[in-house]
Amino acid sequence: MGATTLNKSGFCYTTNSFRKPKMNLLNIVILAAGKGTRMHSDKPKVLHALAGKPLLQHVLDTAAELSPFKTCVVYGHGGEAVPQAMASYETSFALQEPQLGTGHAVQQALPQLPDQGLTLILYGDVPLIQHTTLQQMLTSPDALTLLTIKLDQPAGYGRIVRDDTGNVIAIVEEKDASQAQRAIGEVNTGILAAPTHLLRNWLSQLSNNNVQGEYYLTDIVAMAVKQNVTVHTVHAPHVWEVLGINSKSQLADLERTWQKEQAHHLLTQGVALADPARLDVRGKLVCGRDVEIDVGCIFEGHVQLGNNVQVGAYTIIRNSSIASGTHIAPYSHIDQAEIGSQCQIGPYARIRPGSKLHNDVHIGNFVEVKNSEIAANSKANHLSYIGDASIGSRVNVGAGTITCNYDGVNKFRTIIEDDVFIGSDTQLVAPVTVARGSTIGAGSTITRDTPEGTLTLSRSKQITIAGWKRPTKKK
Ligand code: UD1
Ligand code: CA
Repeated sequence: MGATTLNKSGFCYTTNSFRKPKMNLLNIVILAAGKGTRMHSDKPKVLHALAGKPLLQHVLDTAAELSPFKTCVVYGHGGEAVPQAMASYETSFALQEPQLGTGHAVQQALPQLPDQGLTLILYGDVPLIQHTTLQQMLTSPDALTLLTIKLDQPAGYGRIVRDDTGNVIAIVEEKDASQAQRAIGEVNTGILAAPTHLLRNWLSQLSNNNVQGEYYLTDIVAMAVKQNVTVHTVHAPHVWEVLGINSKSQLADLERTWQKEQAHHLLTQGVALADPARLDVRGKLVCGRDVEIDVGCIFEGHVQLGNNVQVGAYTIIRNSSIASGTHIAPYSHIDQAEIGSQCQIGPYARIRPGSKLHNDVHIGNFVEVKNSEIAANSKANHLSYIGDASIGSRVNVGAGTITCNYDGVNKFRTIIEDDVFIGSDTQLVAPVTVARGSTIGAGSTITRDTPEGTLTLSRSKQITIAGWKRPTKKK
């Protein structure tokens, strides 16, 4: 990406994309300084996770989809924990100390923002706002745009006050509202967009002359009206997009709402879910046709399931891809793995990071595979550890086989070539190569490479002691 520069009208150019306007300049300020007392936690509220990701990270990811010129997170309570947790993000930070209200919070970010274009205000504890909704708020470069929503129970929210012709004239906070104003169902979500130079001017005029003694961001609405600046409203399409988190209970409720939303989305795409209420997607799940998912499954990060994949109950899959026709039996764990088509996995299989299984591989119960490649048509069906191994095609790994990949300090690889048969309860002490077509007798400890097509075994001789008696209990 080239350096981004501004021109006078506030258009944003990327220098190496032959100087065409990219978008009207956008700044995003994310408020995240609040205390979060009701979370009863030592962790700052915005770092608590929804769908496996900190609340603030949801907002930053959504913000990034709008390609802003500048993003600034206003933090305060919880100290440096917030900037530290978000260090990998392309955002700046502004400290708000003490926290004197939402208007005061935005003021802390303003010195970092250029005057051109719009500034959009988001909240670190309102995680599910969608970029498609925000996009609708960015179409009027000269107006103040408020995101509002109609609620049956508007208690606690700032009310949108309109005149007889329906124009917005003010936002009145619940605590400052009259009886008649409290009856208004249209509320302020808090999310708004305004021309940055106007916002700067309005915020400099704020007072804290209200019931809470705070500098209210919402007071800028009356200022805009007084200056004849158009006040637009955009209606949020879903309540869940604008719900804020103040307690663990609200967090759990929003988690369920979001999971139901995602389950519904998968169902409409044709994925068969045994029970849409018993599915957790913590990231992105992409499914082919005729995928079936049983109850209690968790998908984390980016997971891709090919056509006709079946996922058995209580399976956890994280950052992995599974190709068409593969069946995963219940209680399997798959993490950072690539699994081919027509494989049989589980029940109780554990496939760990760096594993690549080709087509038609069978991994059975209590088999752990780590950082290993297994070629087509190979099987390890019972009780094995396969770590740091490269296994060829048509290999049979007998029950209880262990790759001894670690000498306590260093890790070594085990190579098993095509058409090998490993007898049960074998230990392969790496580094070691079992050559093509060789057979290992059950119960062997293999420490040296085996020649092609041979039988190798290492066992002590079986003996029988005649006349031996079992011990009896002493009286
Ligand atoms: C605010 C709005 C209200 C709206 C409601 C929606 C104001 C004055 N009121 O009220 O109209 O209906 O949100 O939820 O804006 N924050 C800071 N620094 C501060 C104060 C707050 O960063 O000094 C952050 C908080 O972390 C929180 C957000 O701003 O994320 C909202 O603050 P809060 O005090 O909860 O505002 P509300 O009273 O809910
Ligand atoms: Ca609040």
